[in-house]
Amino acid sequence: MNDSAFHYVDGALHVEGVPAASLAEQFGTPLYVYSRDALTRAYRAYADACAGRKATVHVAVKANSNLAVLNVFARLGAGFDIVSSGELARVLAAGGKASNTVFSGVGKSAAEMREALEAGVKCFNVESIPELHALNEVAKSLGKKAPVSLRVNPDVDAKTHPYISTGLKSNKFGVAFGDARATYREAHDMANLDVVGIDCHIGSQITEVSPYLDAVDKLLDLVEQIESDGMSIRHVDVGGGLGITYDDETPPDIGDFVRTLLAHFEERGHGQREVYFEPGRSLVGNAGVLLTRVEYLKPGEEKNFAIVDAAMNDLARPAMYEAFHRIVPVIERKASARLYDVVGPVCESGDWLGRDRELAVEQGDLLAILSAGAYGFVMSSNYNTRARAAEIMVDGERARAVREREEVKQLFAGESILPD
Ligand code: LLP
Repeated sequence: MNDSAFHYVDGALHVEGVPAASLAEQFGTPLYVYSRDALTRAYRAYADACAGRKATVHVAVKANSNLAVLNVFARLGAGFDIVSSGELARVLAAGGKASNTVFSGVGKSAAEMREALEAGVKCFNVESIPELHALNEVAKSLGKKAPVSLRVNPDVDAKTHPYISTGLKSNKFGVAFGDARATYREAHDMANLDVVGIDCHIGSQITEVSPYLDAVDKLLDLVEQIESDGMSIRHVDVGGGLGITYDDETPPDIGDFVRTLLAHFEERGHGQREVYFEPGRSLVGNAGVLLTRVEYLKPGEEKNFAIVDAAMNDLARPAMYEAFHRIVPVIERKASARLYDVVGPVCESGDWLGRDRELAVEQGDLLAILSAGAYGFVMSSNYNTRARAAEIMVDGERARAVREREEVKQLFAGESILPD
């Protein structure tokens, strides 16, 4: 939790200058609440550490794609990392620039390539030889040259959850390290491609710097080979992945992480090389919480359950990855605490948000699920025909709805029944 943005005043949780309880009263629950200050400070930690170097930050839109969140970053001068034409549309609607946007992803369609080329994205992070051919064809049909970087799979162990580790040989991502040099030659020979960079993304929620240093070493070895083959590589994109504290993890400080990586480029004699970062979680994760109300308490022989109004459709991470999110009371109670499983109303045993949590709660109380700003709302669904939560941005003493709560009628507005 970002201490100054989310804090208690006389036992009441505040988001910046606003009591969380008043947000729940005004906007209802479940409710995603973001702090503009926390977003800004996380971005600045990256940007300040990049100052004076040819290094740029591309916010990974997938972690939180709310227009107001993207707009906060766009105003700070951020670039963006997208994985679909939908995300490109969001970046443009939020005031971001295509010319400062990189397009990642393993399965870009020809239509998406066309849209991105027409918009003028800065670089396509290409993941396979067939994708190179497809992009070359699309660029040719538009009479353009597509700027490309190859996502190379450096085969390093990011030491994170298997579902979010992406840099191993066994993952679907990137061009195999051993094939990369030849693939670069192939790309170089395609008339409508312009080779500009190299990239990798080794995983997410990484709490050590060493896997990055290993990846950078492997990428720079390749850069040296590719350049000796007569091509020039302008930038090295190290991907995203820096972890955050959900529980007791101790990831490196953002500034230290960036400085360590940039120093490593220098040590390797690549201090002038342009470096791209693609952070998601570390920018938004601890800038958001999910507020939820306790509907019922259900004590049991083996377990006590606190049944809340948020569910796996609102925050999928616990059900999907057994991810831990701290759960705290919005108003602290003096009463003695009991152990609860905090669960939602969805009809699945997997619908839990926290297990064995020590909480002093009563029916009707509000709880805050912390570290919910990344991969929270964006992964929510309408399972059980549940309308998705509203999203709020707090800025000092002010709070503004940045996404309205869905209404049930919207959920089946595009459906129809057979005429006979
Ligand atoms: N760049 C690329 C190419 C990526 O695939 C990702 C995330 C990022 C950047 C941003 O990584 P970050 O800094 O956020 O770690 N839903 C999972 C996380 C999936 C991450 C996928 N790729 C979760 O909730 O933990």
